[in-house]
Amino acid sequence: MSGTPKISFSEPKPLSDGTFVILADENLHSGRLTRRVLEPAKDLVSRAARTEGFKGGKGKALDLVAPAGLKADRLIVLGLGELKEIGHGDWAKLGGGIMGKIAAAKNVTVLFEFPEGAASAEAAADFAFGMRLRAYRFDRYKTKKKDSEDKSEPAPANVTIAFAEPAAARKKWNAREALARGVEIARDLVNEPPNVLFPVEFARRASTLKKLGVAVDILDVSRMKKLGMGALLGVGQGSVHEPRLVVMRWDGGKRGDKPVAIVGKGVCFDTGGISIKPAGGMEDMKGDMAGAACVVGLMHALAARKARANVVGVIGLVENMPDGAAQRPGDIVKSMSGQTIEIINTDAEGRLVLADALWYTKERFKPKFMIDLATLTGAILIALGQEYSGLFSNDDKLAKHLIEAGIETGERVWQLPLGPEYDKMIDSKFADMKNTGGRHAGSITAAQFLQRFVDKTPWAHLDIAGTGMGASASDINTSWGPGWGVRLLDRLVRDRYEN
Ligand code: BES
Ligand code: MN
Ligand code: ZN
Repeated sequence: MSGTPKISFSEPKPLSDGTFVILADENLHSGRLTRRVLEPAKDLVSRAARTEGFKGGKGKALDLVAPAGLKADRLIVLGLGELKEIGHGDWAKLGGGIMGKIAAAKNVTVLFEFPEGAASAEAAADFAFGMRLRAYRFDRYKTKKKDSEDKSEPAPANVTIAFAEPAAARKKWNAREALARGVEIARDLVNEPPNVLFPVEFARRASTLKKLGVAVDILDVSRMKKLGMGALLGVGQGSVHEPRLVVMRWDGGKRGDKPVAIVGKGVCFDTGGISIKPAGGMEDMKGDMAGAACVVGLMHALAARKARANVVGVIGLVENMPDGAAQRPGDIVKSMSGQTIEIINTDAEGRLVLADALWYTKERFKPKFMIDLATLTGAILIALGQEYSGLFSNDDKLAKHLIEAGIETGERVWQLPLGPEYDKMIDSKFADMKNTGGRHAGSITAAQFLQRFVDKTPWAHLDIAGTGMGASASDINTSWGPGWGVRLLDRLVRDRYEN
């Protein structure tokens, strides 16, 4: 894929051709080796820093092209700010930030050394992780390559992290590389156009996880009919593209240990159906499968790093179209659970897909807990914008663990309430429930709807309509589809469910 730098680790080495990145703190102090490397042009950096007003602030960079007296073609001094103020999450951001500045450089060496004390292998690997995530580009449909003088986007590069203990860093990197690839897979899926990525094609891509030892089972329409999945099937009935339900299993944990289950909304395109959406911005609804994309990316990461946990991923894949065969407002469908649903608005389709996917997952796997991810409601964007995903849960401990993993990874979640007063709002005159709850508390009534399909299973719902697509650029992401949630859930599994 374009945008994937080749990352390797080596012993610290002298300057040579190519771009070199060195690190300096807020006093412009560097490590011992760095100072030695700069010896031939002793006061070059301090003079340039004075001229540019560079003070070594965190994430700031001083860029010296063809520095006189040094062998490097380009030397970049990356500011770390005050060393003791650098938190865990900062290394990936610093790596991403520098990747954004090296543009078309072909060979980059980062002299990963601090002014004082030892840099950790973990920090070096996190730095590389941030560089890799920032380098991602989705340009497979651009037939005219950009002018190479355009430096606004990072280009592929060979990156060497020169670090005192390369073997230790490489070991830490292995798991991060698996995770980075998982994030990239999720980004690709969200970015793909909807004429390419319809349910059958999505399922095919998920089935490539078999190569890593993931068991993949694809349920077609006739199997879903036999199971009574009338809610999911109703959404897909207006499309020429058949729905699929994909079940992915990674059994890296103890034999017989109950799995954890992650369930994703995979609406490959959401027109709204007969309750059709307005034209403006409708193209964004190709991203209405971001939950399912996250599940596939996560399963990749877990399998590729051989996570010691049993994890099931289930994704409901449909296309929501208006058509002569499409579902109507007023229709009543029967879900796999046996509960009936009156369709009020065909655009509230995600909860219908998840109703059957959640019930099926609970029945078949009796999981320790279930987490679903869904670009479920526009209302969550009104409440939280694009900074946090909405979190809803029937289990305080699970909610707490998700909130903590969110702080650790920067993929943050904010909890909203559930309760019987909200649940009442989806009672129906004609069926067991209706698929919308009116204007008020739209994200909460959607979550209440899902809760009716999880029974007593500990469960959390993440509404990612604001975070799963249309991301604004950050140090570690410039992609429209950010691959949101892969890092969060990998972290949850790693910290809480691996031995
Ligand atoms: N996929 C949309 C939600 C969405 C909106 C995702 C904006 C990303 C950005 C979902 O299927 C939907 O249409 N929800 C409706 C529900 C309503 C009809 C009760 C909504 O939010 O308007
Ligand atoms: Mn919709
Ligand atoms: Zn939708």
